[in-house]
Amino acid sequence: MIQLNGCAGPERILLASNRGPVSFTQEPDGTLSARRGGGGLVSALSSVADAGQAGDLLWVCAALSDADRSAARKAPDGRLDTAGHDTPAPVQMLDIPPTVFDQAYNGVANSHLWFVSHLLYDTPNEPRFGAEFAAAWAAYREYNGAFATALAENVPAGPAGRVRVMVQDYHLALVPGMLARLRPGVPVAHFSHTPWAPPDYFRILPAPVGRELLEGMLGADHAGFLAQRWADAFLDCCEVVLGADVDRGRQQVSYRGHVCRVGVHALGVDAADMRRRAHQPDVDRHVAALARVTQGRQLIVRVDRTELSKNIVRGLAAYRELLATHPELHGRVTHLAFAYPSRSDLAGYRAYTDSVQRAAARITAEFGTPDWAPLILEVKDDYARSLAAYRLADVLVVNPTRDGMNLVAKEGPILSDRACALVLSQEAGAAAELGEHALLVNPYDVTATAQAMHAGLTMPAAERDARCAALARAGAACPPGAWLASQIAALG
Ligand code: G6P
Repeated sequence: MIQLNGCAGPERILLASNRGPVSFTQEPDGTLSARRGGGGLVSALSSVADAGQAGDLLWVCAALSDADRSAARKAPDGRLDTAGHDTPAPVQMLDIPPTVFDQAYNGVANSHLWFVSHLLYDTPNEPRFGAEFAAAWAAYREYNGAFATALAENVPAGPAGRVRVMVQDYHLALVPGMLARLRPGVPVAHFSHTPWAPPDYFRILPAPVGRELLEGMLGADHAGFLAQRWADAFLDCCEVVLGADVDRGRQQVSYRGHVCRVGVHALGVDAADMRRRAHQPDVDRHVAALARVTQGRQLIVRVDRTELSKNIVRGLAAYRELLATHPELHGRVTHLAFAYPSRSDLAGYRAYTDSVQRAAARITAEFGTPDWAPLILEVKDDYARSLAAYRLADVLVVNPTRDGMNLVAKEGPILSDRACALVLSQEAGAAAELGEHALLVNPYDVTATAQAMHAGLTMPAAERDARCAALARAGAACPPGAWLASQIAALG
């Protein structure tokens, strides 16, 4: 049973997210092999489970691939046999028809809800809401309905207060409202891992869609965000778009007789766990290999998914400007840029990956010499190598145009052996907690980003040590287990 502030917590926690803690691959002989997923949610639940705090947990997620669907179909009642899968909780994988899933995930969540919250549209040309979008929106409703039904079926009989339902992210914005209709009185929290858009931008969505999203989320008793500015933007949208009664002092929204409290729950890193992982032999081998290749030069490091909001191309342009304006750095600095594949089902993401590769190739062509690679771009995901790069970084660059939090900004200083300086976008949620000790930049300002890289490379060692220690402390302040527990507590 989860213990919070010495009080007995709920007997059952139902957690719902699109991507679950395990995924399956079909082997050539037809068998299914399972792989544990990473990320903050998995470690949040793992720490709750490892601390023996977890009573009865169930994680409800979508089957994302054909192999996942086969695994879900083999499972009695949809619950996977998790024995030997190293998952932090039992998992129920929803076998949603592939076309419905694709329209909900790619056609709505990734192409629009993600774009709205990150202000990503190329507005002279996109979006265009027509019949295709209407069909995708119907699928998004159906997919949310499948989650709401599965959750309702898992609410135990008896007093509603013995269960807490924790719904994650923009994929599942309609679930709280749907669940409240199916099982009135069950305490539900929704958590947004993304930023939230200001009303003027949010209103790009067709009006009925914008209203349905907000009404869906307001079906929750608690709506959580990673930073105060995203919570404020959500309150603004509730007021402007829905005309809801917003109480900013108490941070709550009253709408059609229901009160939804709004809270900020920052998410950080389990530092001890990460440090342990970053000193395993596979990471040590990568540290040695990278040190060999970079030959003692200063290292500027970035690690991202190749995601439009991560602003990798402008980051590379800033590095180019650094080399162009500081010839004394030639031969003395290397940029390790790790840009791992993401959402490649979407054409915009594939095109962005090409732009990153072209920008990198131009830098190599312009400045590279037989003895010096100014830039090493890696596009094949390798977690151990990323940890090794964090350990070796002199300067870590995290320059998203907008980001809910950005855990790279926290992980890097925690793992750095060289006390890295952090160049951080003012538009990342992490800036609220790390800004004082980072070199904050406007992510659109390439010159300022180049100057911040230079400031990081030339910062006196004592200052770098002090800043990095403060960044590591701030990054470790809200580990995933505490993040989850604080939301359960806020739900009451
Ligand atoms: C990032 C975001 C999350 C989001 C996830 C989805 O981690 O911070 O808000 O849920 O990406 O990524 P996926 O690869 O599942 O589309």
